[in-house]
This record gives sequence, structure tokens and C-alpha cells, in this order.
Amino acid sequence: MAKKIIAGNWKMNMEHAEAILLVKEVADFCKGQDLHLHDTEVIIAPPAIYLQEASKITSENRRLSIAAQNCSEQDGGAFTGEISATMVKNVGVEAVILGHSERRQFFGDTNELVNLKVKKAIEKGLVPIFCVGEMLEDRKNGKFKEVVAEQINEGLKGIHRTEIQQVVVAYEPVWAIGTGETASPEQAQEMHGFIRNLLAKNFNSAIAMDISILYGGSVKPDNARELFGQPDVDGGLIGGASLKAESFNELIRIGKEVLR
Ligand code: PGA
Repeated sequence: MAKKIIAGNWKMNMEHAEAILLVKEVADFCKGQDLHLHDTEVIIAPPAIYLQEASKITSENRRLSIAAQNCSEQDGGAFTGEISATMVKNVGVEAVILGHSERRQFFGDTNELVNLKVKKAIEKGLVPIFCVGEMLEDRKNGKFKEVVAEQINEGLKGIHRTEIQQVVVAYEPVWAIGTGETASPEQAQEMHGFIRNLLAKNFNSAIAMDISILYGGSVKPDNARELFGQPDVDGGLIGGASLKAESFNELIRIGKEVLR
């Protein structure tokens, strides 16, 4: 059974005081939610500068953890501005978002580079939240499955069966990110089912059933119920709606109730 996960990707948002307040508000909310009874996990991915402080706040709750938004494929050395997987791990962080479409679009994260980062994260004991998703153009010209298959095949190349269970996959159609437009529940299910079949083919079907596949792209309390209700949707990777305790906590509540 795949774990149910509600993850918030803050991107480059929130000043220090509001960031810490928001982590505390989510942590307080999670305390009363019996997340373990619902096999649900909550992850917050704040900007790197807040990781250490945030992970101290969440350290008491085993169902609530902190993720980085990126890390280097290198172990360390002369790479100005980069942060290694070990450094991230050292400050109590448990996961890392890799291959997000904004990294692919603006920072040159190719399938090959994302693959190196995923392997490095696994080697250092982090959970990679590995993102894939097609551009609007790919959706319009009917190539969306091909594009996502290539991202999965190349991004997870060389990863062993014993390691893949550590990976969380996030399907985020680029045309739905920050646009207010979401994939319909049918479109989401179609792609999640496709991804699960591909994972079954590349690894095996028991492993594929255990891998959490999150949907991302304008998830909000008013559309989450239908999206989370799809059989192959195991949770959400949430951007905009994770920046307010009210909406993010509501998404946690919905996830707990609806995700199966
Ligand atoms: P969004 O972002 O919810 O604001 O569309 C999702 C993401 O980029 O992870």
C-alpha cells in the first residue's frame, strides 16, 4: 500500500517570521489529527534557509516532516551556492523535491541531472519527491504520455528495486501549476494509472503499488476531494494553497478523509 502524503511546496515564498509561524500552525494542527490512524503523512518544503529551524519544530511528530526543494548531485566541494544531500540530511530534513518543473524550466535540470540528484538523495538517505509532468504543448499535441514516460525512464534509470520504494513520484502537469487550472480528476487518474503501469513494467507490480504518486497543480480545498478520490492518486504536492495554514490544514483534513 502506498503511503498517503500531503506535501506543501513553498517555493521562494515567505519571510522568516511568517515562515516559522506557518510551520508552527501546521504542526499544531497535525497534533490533533491522528495522522497515524489514517496512514497519512504531511511534508512541508520551505526555502533552504529555514530548513533547520523548521525541522526542529516538526521533530516531535513522526507523521510531519520537512523537505528541501532541491539538492546537488555532487557530494561537496567547489560548487558555490549549492547545498548537498548530506547537509540537508544533517539538519533533520527527511525528503527533497527533485525535478520540479520550475527547476527543469529555469535552472537547467535535465532528465539526466535529475537522475543523478535522485540517486544522490537515495544514497544519503533522503526521500526523493521526484516530479514529472508535461507542458501544455505536449498535452495539446497528444504527446503527454511520451514525455512523462521519458522523464520517468530517464529520471529513475539505474535505480535498484530495493531503492525505488524510497521514492515518491509527483505528477504535475506544467500547464496546471500556479495557473488556477487543474487537470480534471479523469485526466489525473489517467496519468497516475499510466505512471503506475510504467513503474510496474520497470520494477514490478507489487513495488509499483507501494510507490506514492502525488498529484500537483493548483490543488485547493475546493477541488481536492475529487482529485484525491481517484484510485491512483496517493496525495498532493501543493504550491499556492500551502502558503496559508487555513487552506493547507484543510487539505490535510480532506486528504486524511478521502485518500485510500
Ligand atoms: P500550485 O503549485 O499548487 O501553486 O499550482 C504546485 C507545485 O508547483 O508543486
